[in-house]
Amino acid sequence: MSEKRENWGSKLGLVLAMAGNAVGLGNFWRYPYQAAKNGGGAFMLPYFGALILMGIPLMLVEWSLGRMGGKYGHGTLGPMVYLQAREGVKPKTAIILGSLAGGLALGVTLLVNSYYNHIIGWTMGYTVLSLTGAYMDPEISTGGFFVDYIQNPGLVFGFWLLALTVLLFTAMGGIQKGVERMAKILMPTIYVFGIILIIRTLTLGSPNPAHPDWTPIAGLNFIWSPRWADLNWAATMAACGQIFFTLSIGMGIICNYASYLKPDDDVVLSGFTTVALNELAEVILGGTIAIPIAYAFLGPDGVGASIGLSFIALPSLFREMGFGNIVGALWFLLLSFAGLTSAIAMYNYLVALIMENSSMVRKNASIAVFIGYIIVGLPVALEPILTKTADLMYFTEVDNWVGNYFLFVLGLIEIIVTGWLFREKGLPEINRGGYWQVPSWFYKAFIQFLTPVLMIVVLVMYTIDTAKAGYYKFIPDFVAGNDVLIPWVQAGRVVVFGVVAIGCWVTYNSIKRSYKEELEKNEVIIRL
Ligand code: ALA
Repeated sequence: MSEKRENWGSKLGLVLAMAGNAVGLGNFWRYPYQAAKNGGGAFMLPYFGALILMGIPLMLVEWSLGRMGGKYGHGTLGPMVYLQAREGVKPKTAIILGSLAGGLALGVTLLVNSYYNHIIGWTMGYTVLSLTGAYMDPEISTGGFFVDYIQNPGLVFGFWLLALTVLLFTAMGGIQKGVERMAKILMPTIYVFGIILIIRTLTLGSPNPAHPDWTPIAGLNFIWSPRWADLNWAATMAACGQIFFTLSIGMGIICNYASYLKPDDDVVLSGFTTVALNELAEVILGGTIAIPIAYAFLGPDGVGASIGLSFIALPSLFREMGFGNIVGALWFLLLSFAGLTSAIAMYNYLVALIMENSSMVRKNASIAVFIGYIIVGLPVALEPILTKTADLMYFTEVDNWVGNYFLFVLGLIEIIVTGWLFREKGLPEINRGGYWQVPSWFYKAFIQFLTPVLMIVVLVMYTIDTAKAGYYKFIPDFVAGNDVLIPWVQAGRVVVFGVVAIGCWVTYNSIKRSYKEELEKNEVIIRL
């Protein structure tokens, strides 16, 4: 390990960086359509259930796992999991758990960003196109405009490279001068933009003369009133997935940021603060912009749109409102800032991985990650351009694995390792240096019992559900019969499992190098 571990420069910087890690496209782009589609107020029940029963306990576990890993020179998940796991099983078994965790974390951090960086690029592109008024002509179909955008190599590659370059320079700046500085600028801006957009949204009046009852407030009512008939198993799974994605848990990136803490820095209050700032951005800001705007113009049937809500429905509405150019630009800039603060966490994870496993300095590791992201992002960019379709099947397949499934698997590994293998040592590890102390009953009831058991249930049920929906067939149901797109889905699978396999192998060697003696003896030598 050539890395001399960096530290956070200030408490404020740390909290904003961690909140930025969590606050992302998931809050503003993914949450509104998930809530609208899955029962509105009824969605809040599984959503807050998953937050309390899984999100918060895992957030605490990831903070403490990461801080402990940092003490031993690790910024990546594999060795962190290994260290705690060998307190409950032999080192030779612990290295298997560590390698699996490391492999999955590489899959998530490399491949979520393979499409996430593109969405940031789209939002940057749409910021400029809002200002230039490119989609403001009412004759233009915003659906067709979006398809043209993702099939336009100049726009797609130009803005994607711009997003990647911002990330590159931030990563090269390091923890204090890069990540922390960016969070201090972008995070307050996100909240300010969010508040401005909320004010504009709530002052829209009733913009559709044919339906004076369609107001933004009625839209808020729509998102908060429970529609129990829509609350089914799929909605519950969507809520669990949303909690994992939005909090950035099961990705390894909270652990990575926590690894730059000092050994006695608080994690309990800081972990809760991260959750609170994320939920404020998600439920209050994310929930009060997109849906009320869509409702005010389109009514209850117009808000169920899926990912097209941000890029298709909203642009068609911005042009109908006063200052639409500015409102549109603010919306897309807000999305790109939120995306950047999360993408940098995934970027930094990979920088840490390279620095831990080679003699590369941060600058070169950052350049290597830049090149890696270009390679893995190419298929996402090329699919719509080459196939002349807008189905984004490669993106969908990769996201199904790394944006959903792997988060549950990784979260389960982490909670089992801390709760069941590290056992009672986990509680003082979480509480050390804490402004708040997690009570012993909470640790026993949640981290050692409810959370792991629920995680197992969620994982099993999610697997059954997705199997029934035909996800695991050689030709999945969602692409059956489409010979143009089937190869893109298969390519997505090869890439996902190829990256995880490489990640497991790299992590295995990394742990073996660091803990050679105890692995040879298969006995714990380095006591935590
Ligand atoms: N937590 C990040 C988001 O919500 C990944 O987008």
